[in-house]
Amino acid sequence: MKLYEQLVEELVSRINQGYYQPGKKLPSIRSLSKERGVSISTVQEAYIRLEEGGFAEVRPKSGYYVKGRSAAPQLPEVSRPAQRPLEVSHWEQVYNLLHAEKEPGHVALGTALPEINSSTLKPLLKSLSQAARNGTENFLNYCGMGGSPNLRKQIARLAVDYGCNLHPDEIIITSGCQEALVCSFRAVTNPGDIVATDSPSFYGSTQAIKALGLKALEIPTHPETGISLEALELALDQWPIQAIQVTPTCNNPLGYTMPEERRKGLLRLAQQYDIPIIEDDIYGDLYFRSPRPKAIRAFDQEGRVLLCSSFSKTIAPGLRLGWVAPGQCTERVLHKKFVSTVSSPLIQQEAVAEFIANGYYERHLRKMRLQYQQSRDLMIEWIESYFPEGTRISFPEGGYMLWVELPMAMDTVLLNQRLADKQVSIAPGVIFSASGKYRNFMRLNYAGKMDEDTHNAVRVLADEIRSFAEEI
Ligand SMILES: Cc1ncc(COP(=O)(O)O)c(C=O)c1O
Repeated sequence: MKLYEQLVEELVSRINQGYYQPGKKLPSIRSLSKERGVSISTVQEAYIRLEEGGFAEVRPKSGYYVKGRSAAPQLPEVSRPAQRPLEVSHWEQVYNLLHAEKEPGHVALGTALPEINSSTLKPLLKSLSQAARNGTENFLNYCGMGGSPNLRKQIARLAVDYGCNLHPDEIIITSGCQEALVCSFRAVTNPGDIVATDSPSFYGSTQAIKALGLKALEIPTHPETGISLEALELALDQWPIQAIQVTPTCNNPLGYTMPEERRKGLLRLAQQYDIPIIEDDIYGDLYFRSPRPKAIRAFDQEGRVLLCSSFSKTIAPGLRLGWVAPGQCTERVLHKKFVSTVSSPLIQQEAVAEFIANGYYERHLRKMRLQYQQSRDLMIEWIESYFPEGTRISFPEGGYMLWVELPMAMDTVLLNQRLADKQVSIAPGVIFSASGKYRNFMRLNYAGKMDEDTHNAVRVLADEIRSFAEEI
C-alpha cells in the first residue's frame, strides 16, 4: 500500500469514527505532513483522493473540510399502529416484492440487497472455490447440528465488539437470519400467542408470526429512539404478551438505533414481565461509526435475549448463513433447527470463517460502511430535491435503507403498479405492518451503485408520485 493510500484509510476511518465531524475542517496539509512525517505531496495526494471519494471538499483559501450530512432531514412521525393484537396480512405484496419478474434494466429501489460486487469480497470467492475444489468428505457430509466450530468461534470473537460474551457452543448456525428468527419464535411461543413488535417492522419477521399462528401487537415506534417503552409497558399490562421482537440497531425499515439507556430499559421490562426478547442484529455491523452499539444481549445476565443475525446484509444473502445465540433456550432452538433443516451446508461456513479469521471481513465492512454512508446522504439529497414538499425521510446511522413518508394520502401499492412499466419498483409501506398501515410510506435501498441509472429511477419515481397525486 502506498503512503498516501495509508493516509487516506486512516483519515477515512477517523471520519467514520466521528473524530472529524461533517462540515468541520481537516488538519492543514502542512500540519498533517509534520505530524505524520510524510511529504507535503503525500498529504496533497491523500486529500485529492478524499475529495474524489466524496469524503472531503476543498474551500478556496481555507483548506479541506469533511463532507457529509450533519443534520437529519425532516423525520417521519412516531408511528401509531393499531392498539390490539392482530393476524398479520399482506403476504401477496411481500410475494410481489420478492418474486415479481424484473426485466433487464429494472431498478429495484425497494429490495434489501447489499452491494455484492465489491472487490473486498474477492477473497471469499477464492475461499469458496478452493473449498469446492477440495470437495472432500468434510464438505459433502452433514455438518454438526450447531454448525461449523470454526465459524462459531469467529462469531463469538466478533461478538466481543458489541459487548457479548458468547461461548461458541451457544451459537447455532442457521440458514439466514430468517431461520434464526423462526426457530426463536417457535422456541418461546405457542400458536395463538401474542408477540410485541416495533412498528413498522421487517416483513420476514411479521410473516413468520403469521405462519406460526401467532398474533402481532405493534407498538408505537420513534424514528430515532425506537420502540416506545411507555407504550410497551401499557401493552404488557393489558395483554398476555409472550415475547418481544425488535431490531434495535440500524432498524429495517425505520432506520432507528436505540440509545443504550433505552436498550437497558427494554430489558428491564422483559425481566419485570418475565418474557424473552428476540433481538435481530442483522445490520449491527453496518453501523457507520465506531464503536458500534452494544446489543441488548450485552446487558443480559440471564440468557433472556435470543440474539439473531446473519451475514446476508454484511457479506451476501445468497450464502444463506445466519446464526442465533439463544441463551436459556439453546436446547429448544437446537431442536427447532434440527426439525427445520437438520444443519446448514458446510462450504459457505468454512469459507466465511476463513474470510473473518484473515481480517477480510473487517476490511470489507470498513469499505461498505463508508460507501453506504455517502450513498445515504446522496439518496436523501435526491429525495429532497425531487419529491413533493413535506416528504419525510428517516436518517439511519447505518445499513442501507430509507423509510419515506409521502405528504399526501397516496397508496404506495398502487404507485408500485403504476411504476411497473417504467422499470422502477419500491417496497410499499403496508408490508411492514400487521394491519396494513403505512399506505403512504415506502422503503428505498441505497446499497446499489448511485449512478445515473439510479438517479434517473429516483426522478421517475418522483414524477410518478406527482402525477398520481394530481389524480387523487
Ligand atoms: C431485519 C431483517 N431481519 C432478517 C432478515 C432476513 O435475513 P436473511 O436473509 O439472513 O434470512 C432481513 C432481510 O431482509 C432483515 O432485513
